[in-house]
Amino acid sequence: MVGGPDGGPEEHHMIELRGVSKVYPGGVTALDGVDLTIDRGEIHGIVGRSGAGKSTLIRCLTGLDPATSGKITIDGTDLSSARGAALRKARRKIGMVFQHVNLLDSRTAEQNIAHPLEVAGVTGAERRRRVAELLDLVGLTERRGSYPSQLSGGQKQRVGIARALAAEPAVLLCDEPTSALDAATTRQILSLIRSLRDRLGITVVIITHEMSVVREVCDSVSLLADGRIARSGPLLEVIGDTASPLSKELIPLPPVHLGEDGAIIEALLATEGGPDLAGLFRILGEAGATAEITAGTVETIHGRQVGRIHFAPSSPQEAERMLAALRSAGVHAELTSAQARGEGDEQ
Ligand SMILES: Nc1ncnc2c1ncn2[C@@H]1O[C@H](COP(=O)(O)OP(=O)(O)OP(=O)(O)O)[C@@H](O)[C@H]1O
Ligand SMILES: [Mg+2]
Repeated sequence: MVGGPDGGPEEHHMIELRGVSKVYPGGVTALDGVDLTIDRGEIHGIVGRSGAGKSTLIRCLTGLDPATSGKITIDGTDLSSARGAALRKARRKIGMVFQHVNLLDSRTAEQNIAHPLEVAGVTGAERRRRVAELLDLVGLTERRGSYPSQLSGGQKQRVGIARALAAEPAVLLCDEPTSALDAATTRQILSLIRSLRDRLGITVVIITHEMSVVREVCDSVSLLADGRIARSGPLLEVIGDTASPLSKELIPLPPVHLGEDGAIIEALLATEGGPDLAGLFRILGEAGATAEITAGTVETIHGRQVGRIHFAPSSPQEAERMLAALRSAGVHAELTSAQARGEGDEQ
């Protein structure tokens, strides 16, 4: 959100990391020169294998476990140089949500949400008003008197989110917020996170190993590998980058088992201004192609159809016709073979 050609005000990014490294005592380099920019109101996903440094990145962002080198700014405050009151102020801008919510078992949902406010010295009517507002925000007003043992996993996570929002943070950091939840509850929590962003304008960072979480809620995504950002960008741009392994992970295909090592045309529906699924079939129909679909994944992301489809052309001539037609319509299409892709050998 740097002042653009529209003449808008010069504004700093909400989160900015420059050359951030973290070496743990003992010599493990968990982060190795991370550069990352996240704008105000953005929902940013961070994915990567186990041990890639995701949780370390989140801990550095909270300012509790400082980076070894590099610069982290949150809403314009430099976490690495801030001390005392300035650091506390910067930390208050950050709320945390974890995979397993650590609620106080002897306190009701309402009392758990009130806890950070008590600690911050908010009292009386003001505290009651804030707690009621937070309960409403996460849809738990009816269950405010329930103890954690009486709440479902999704409801507990809602309490955790409300508690994280109590100090009115500008940034919500979520480390695997839905990994302990079933698919339906995951969708509810993700839609809550999205609506909180829409209503409160908060910036959200979600660490996840679930690509479905990224597809469903993120505006942008970064792939962390060995402590480095391997790829980062707006979701549709990353999906559209066919050279990126992250694109295949975000729009995966079910494993295909072909009887023979036939040729396969892979088409990616992701390009700006490219056709939707119906358009794709129209183009193939006009080219006289009758190829069978052997696998396909189609999702609607940010209101656009995005997908990956495999066709088995019946002859090399048909394959040529299909490739030419798809490419001239701006669809990324490539010819590959089941053999070359090693399909059927996986797992
Ligand atoms: N407190 C610590 N002391 C020493 N090494 C650590 C510490 N915490 C993490 N590490 C190491 O740093 C690297 C990154 O760990 P991190 O927890 O950030 O990974 P992650 O991406 O969150 O993995 P996962 O998906 O399994 O949660 C790993 O090699 C890990 O062993
Ligand atoms: Mg982790």
